[in-house]
Amino acid sequence: MTLAISNHTLNLQARLDQVEKLIGHTPLYPINKVYSKTGVQIFAKLEWQQLGGSVKARAAFNIIKQAILNGQLTEEKELLDATSGNTGIAYASIGAALGINITLCLPENASEQRKRILESLGVNIVYTSKFEGTDGAQLKAKELYKENPDLYYYADQYANDHNWQAHVTTTAPEIWNATNGKVTHFVAGLGTTGTLMGTTRGLKQFNKNITAVALEPNNPMHGLEGWKHLETAIVPKIYDATVADQFLEIDTVEAFDLVKKIALKEGLLVSPSAAANLLGAIQVAEQIDSGVIVTTFADDASKYRE
Ligand SMILES: Cc1ncc(COP(=O)(O)O)c(C=O)c1O
Repeated sequence: MTLAISNHTLNLQARLDQVEKLIGHTPLYPINKVYSKTGVQIFAKLEWQQLGGSVKARAAFNIIKQAILNGQLTEEKELLDATSGNTGIAYASIGAALGINITLCLPENASEQRKRILESLGVNIVYTSKFEGTDGAQLKAKELYKENPDLYYYADQYANDHNWQAHVTTTAPEIWNATNGKVTHFVAGLGTTGTLMGTTRGLKQFNKNITAVALEPNNPMHGLEGWKHLETAIVPKIYDATVADQFLEIDTVEAFDLVKKIALKEGLLVSPSAAANLLGAIQVAEQIDSGVIVTTFADDASKYRE
């Protein structure tokens, strides 16, 4: 019996190690054609080039890994969360690779494409009312967990410190190394806020003078998937308003225009939130005479086509 359990644990550990190789290590791409300024270089980190196709692979993997290592998540349990977005797809891809069951609460009006992706990856989907949006999905996840705490590991990405910590240990050192320590600014939009919180904290361990710039949509009805308008949304528990040095507002229409330019001039098919990040990086570039600005392209355009 003891042997069987330890083999089982060993197998899961081996699979964790294999999957970890597919997380992070994304390239930094120099943006030169949609924007250039002497003395200033903008780099975009191409975050779709990892398992599950988005930046959320980092947070989802760390959340799952830490929960397995501390015994909260086993093959007998199911990971539970509320998300129709990139985190859901990341949980689903990693869960399938590790043999961990995933249950996600989704508003019934989530796009057909996302439902198909999640179904293909074997997710157990619990649909919630389209009238209650993602807040309704979050309430349902909490309710399911309360009803059956022994069945579920409730990941709660908005409150889980392993979300932002993934960026301290992976995104930040990758940026520091790829720029040979020359990075001066890090710019990112706020969703769960994990990318900005963690990457900033990690970069400031290398050089406390690096400037962190947080981006927000300029109105509540912004349509920038993955981003939050924090003045009017539920503020994630992991968010700390003192981490960013500067805040900038981004216009959705300008972001969608930039998606087209990035495709035509840089050869990259990116998501609206990626273009929104580049708009923020360009605003920063306009303010400075010299520097190395790094931002993230959270995912590519494939999930946003009609
Ligand atoms: C497309 C997209 N952009 C940006 C973000 C924001 O990242 P974070 O949650 O780390 O703040 C997300 C998060 O889900 C996302 O899906």
